[in-house]
Amino acid sequence: ATGQRLEVEYRMFTRDGQVRWFRDEASILRDDAGRPLGLQGVMYDITERKRAEEELIVRNSAIEASLNAIALTDLKCHLTYVNPSFVRLWGYDGPEELLGRRGLTFVADRSHLQKVVRAVRSRGHWTGELVARRKDGSTFDVLVAANMVRDSLGRPVCLMASALDVTERKRAEAAMKDAQRRLTAAREEERRRLAGELHDSVGQALVAMKLAVSDLAGPARSQRPQEVEALARVAEQCDGLIHEIRGICRGLYPPTLESLGLASALHQLASDFRARAGVEVRHMVRPREGRFSPEVEIALFRIAQEAVTNAVKHGLADRVRLTLSHHAGRAMLTVTDNGRGFDPKTAAKGVGLNMMAERMRAVGGELEISSKPGCTRVRARVPTRLILPEQDPKS
Ligand SMILES: Nc1ncnc2c1ncn2[C@@H]1O[C@H](COP(=O)(O)OP(=O)(O)O)[C@@H](O)[C@H]1O
Ligand SMILES: [Mg+2]
Repeated sequence: ATGQRLEVEYRMFTRDGQVRWFRDEASILRDDAGRPLGLQGVMYDITERKRAEEELIVRNSAIEASLNAIALTDLKCHLTYVNPSFVRLWGYDGPEELLGRRGLTFVADRSHLQKVVRAVRSRGHWTGELVARRKDGSTFDVLVAANMVRDSLGRPVCLMASALDVTERKRAEAAMKDAQRRLTAAREEERRRLAGELHDSVGQALVAMKLAVSDLAGPARSQRPQEVEALARVAEQCDGLIHEIRGICRGLYPPTLESLGLASALHQLASDFRARAGVEVRHMVRPREGRFSPEVEIALFRIAQEAVTNAVKHGLADRVRLTLSHHAGRAMLTVTDNGRGFDPKTAAKGVGLNMMAERMRAVGGELEISSKPGCTRVRARVPTRLILPEQDPKS
């Protein structure tokens, strides 16, 4: 006869010190008088199952303790699990307030969330930002990674999402961008002021000096030939300085940029450089096609100015090509030189390279530099609208 069943799980140490788990399922054999005779049953090695169970416990506690808000939903997007961070971030008192409710409840832009769910169903995952809604109705920005969880046969089991509060980060980014924009505007204003002052003080004084010197050397005065010659040299120097001051003023604040636009200012820049450094600047800019916003025009102009200067000063280039185009809502400026090149990754970044990158960041664009001996290319791309002259002649 058989007696009661016996089920036990226990561990044993193997000779080399490892732990193995076993499960016995046995019954006690008894004689007619009910005295135990022995055990009959099966012994299973359940080490692997135990290991999996322990792993699950570890993972569960990791999810519970995570600083990220983590939620699971069934395939119809009803919450089946939320971790404490989720409860806290969304401003609830406990998970019981949330479980069973629809995921939509916790997001402010619902149509967006539906797109996310569709993406997760079709592609298996989605990462991006969403606007979330707290229990009290207030909203905040979250960075979300959502996944479809599948079983070993690939069948969908549930949806998983982890979320991080990025409100503060986004605010700081916006404030930074705003500060950068204002700094750039202030810098431009300062340059414009300097250019004006230089033009009106030193520039005007030089013109007056030149007139006085010419007058001194004039036929009305009786001067010795050496003196006339010396005065003529001074007048010539005055002319040179007047020319130079004009150049400096234009560099500080190119009046063409404001009145005629970026394309014309780039033409001006090209001819200035052609005269000054003997550099051939080939421009393939179609001028007066239209205008970009003032911030974009000034940013691209300053980048062109710096890139051409670098090509001459550092690259010792004798050919620089400047191109400006507008395509698919983006303006693109490319400055290519045939100089000796440099390694943009290891070069000590001076004010110039940093300024170029910063200017592009401030207007939401990007700067890309590639260089090898004989070919350096600086490319600035920025999303911007082309304002056609007939649409808005003043701007
Ligand atoms: N077109 C170029 N050709 C060769 N080297 C360049 C070029 N542009 C930049 N560089 C290198 O990168 C460095 C940093 O440039 P930049 O930030 O403009 O600083 P700065 O011009 O004030 O020295 C330069 O010192 C130079 O070594
Ligand atoms: Mg420079």
